[in-house]
Order: sequence, then structure tokens, then C-alpha cells
Amino acid sequence: MEKQIKRIAVFTSGGDAPGMNAAIRAVVRTASYHDLHVYGIFRGYEGMIDGDFKRLERKDVANIIHRGGTILKTARSERFMSASGRKAAFESLIAFDIDACIAIGGNGTFTGAKIFSEEHNIPFIGIPGTIDNDLFGTDFTIGFDTAVNTAIEAVDRIRDTADSHNRLFFIEVMGRHAGYIALHTAIGSGAESVLIPEVDMDLDRLTELLLKNARRRKLFSLVIVAEGNKIGPTPEIAAIIKERIENFDIRYAIIGHLQRGGAPNSLDRVLASRLGYAAVEGLMNGERNVMAGIINDHVVFTPLSDAISKEKPLENDLVKMAEILAM
Ligand code: F6P
Repeated sequence: MEKQIKRIAVFTSGGDAPGMNAAIRAVVRTASYHDLHVYGIFRGYEGMIDGDFKRLERKDVANIIHRGGTILKTARSERFMSASGRKAAFESLIAFDIDACIAIGGNGTFTGAKIFSEEHNIPFIGIPGTIDNDLFGTDFTIGFDTAVNTAIEAVDRIRDTADSHNRLFFIEVMGRHAGYIALHTAIGSGAESVLIPEVDMDLDRLTELLLKNARRRKLFSLVIVAEGNKIGPTPEIAAIIKERIENFDIRYAIIGHLQRGGAPNSLDRVLASRLGYAAVEGLMNGERNVMAGIINDHVVFTPLSDAISKEKPLENDLVKMAEILAM
């Protein structure tokens, strides 16, 4: 018979995302409603290996719903990638008598959780927390909307100076493997073009596109570039286009980690609260090794194996729409 769940651990891992604190708060408060004991693990899997645990009670998560980052800190753990690291982590969980874990993170976090739960038979529930929005099994991940808003605010500012100088700007946003942030930023900021990993693009086509804009007497242009786009690093793209179209006045900007910080917006606070609540309720109702997500406004539990391996398709309509609206 499966052990009754009395003590759970919660941690954040991988890149931080605005709203992670709201999710921690929801986990702790829902668990305490069910009389479960909650331990927070600091620095993700690193802290799990080192036994860096702290009991969390309702009052410990007061006054954090509005804060960016994560009060539990985070890390990308090399040690957890080895069987010996995972064994040490399991020993820490045993030492604290933990019956189940709630992991808040992205693809790397859940890949670790899946391997670990299979090796050591400890149940996990995942909560999707990453600005990249690249997890199958949820319409949105915690932090995505805030990150896009931050990026759009930055692009709006660049638009002013691009317009004043009649310049072409390449603006890089995050997304190593996914173009969600770039696509939504491009649509929301009215950019002329967007380069994303999911859509083929090469320098010739890009050059042609920019020349077409110039022929339409568009005096300035904004091109949103996803970090993981198909052509290459943004400074190189800017330099090559400058060689090819000498009369363009070109600059580039990399928004970078600005997108990861800051207070979560209302959508992320509500999403994180719903998912933190759903994760604990799911655990109480027998869900195991799944990710809690929201699809069409309903809570859905997806096996961790699907969440990490199935491709979340980019909305094709949006790619086409972005092109049409930018003409
Ligand atoms: O996974 C989230 C993310 O912000 C990606 O968009 C980005 O490529 C990466 O993390 C950056 O990671 P780090 O902060 O470790 O450099």
C-alpha cells in the first residue's frame, strides 16, 4: 500500500520566473489547510543534495506574492545529473521524512524529477515555472506573461529612439529553444519581423524582407530576435546585415535577464496561485509524477514524461498573423 502523504517538500529549480513565490505561497497554504508539513528546499536539486531544508509555515510565505525571483533560491545542478548526486538527494529526503516533492521549474527540472522518481520511488508533482512557455501540458507557464510585458516595455522605448534616428534595431529576447517570448513580444510591440527557432529563416530572406520594408519607405524597423533563432547570435546578424545593406543605420539591443526579474503581473500571480493549489490538491487525490497545468482554463495533469518530451506547438496562426499585421 502507498504511504500516506504527511510531509512534502517544495523547491524551485532552473531559471527563476516571476510568480514562483506566488506558487510557493499557494503550495504552503494549501498544504497547511490539509494539515501537511511542508519543507522548503533551497537552491533546487543542489540544496536537496546538501540537505538545505527549512520547515515552512503559513507565516513564512506572507508578503511574498508580489515579489519576483524565488525566496527558495534556484540553481542548475550538475551534481544531480549523476546517479551518486541523486542518491545523496534521496538520502536527504529520507532524513527529513519527505513523502512527496513539488518541483517548480521547466524542462530540465522535470527531466531530473522523472529520472529521480523512477530511481527512488518518490512521487513528484511539477508546477510549470519558466518564462519560456515551452512546456507541453499547459497553455501558459508561470512568468511568461510578465516577461513578455517587460520585453514589450523595453521595445516600446527602443521604438522611440529607432523612430527618431530612422534606424533598424535588432532586439534580442530570451528563449533558447522556443520562440514564444519573441513571437508575443513582436505582436505586442508591432515589430516588423521576428526570428524564432520554430520558423526557417536565413540571411538572404531576411535581407530581402528588410529591403522590401525600405522600398515601402518604412524609415525605421524593429526586428525581434529569439536567442535560439535559426540564423545566429544577434550581434552577428546585425553586422552581416550592415555589410549587405550599407545605407541602413543599424543597432542591436539584448534585453537579457531584465526579462526574468520584477514583480509578477496579475496573470502570473493568479496562474501561480491556481497551480500551487492544484499541485497539492492533486497530490491529495492520488496524482503522481505529473505536471499541473491549465488548458482552456481547466486544471489538467500531464505525465512528466509527456511534459518534457512532447513538443508544444507554436500557434501557427500567430506566426502568419504577425507577418500580415507587420506588412
Ligand atoms: O529557461 C529560461 C531562460 O531564461 C532562457 O530563456 C534562457 O536562455 C536561459 O534561461 C538563461 O539561463 P541562465 O540564467 O542560466 O543564463
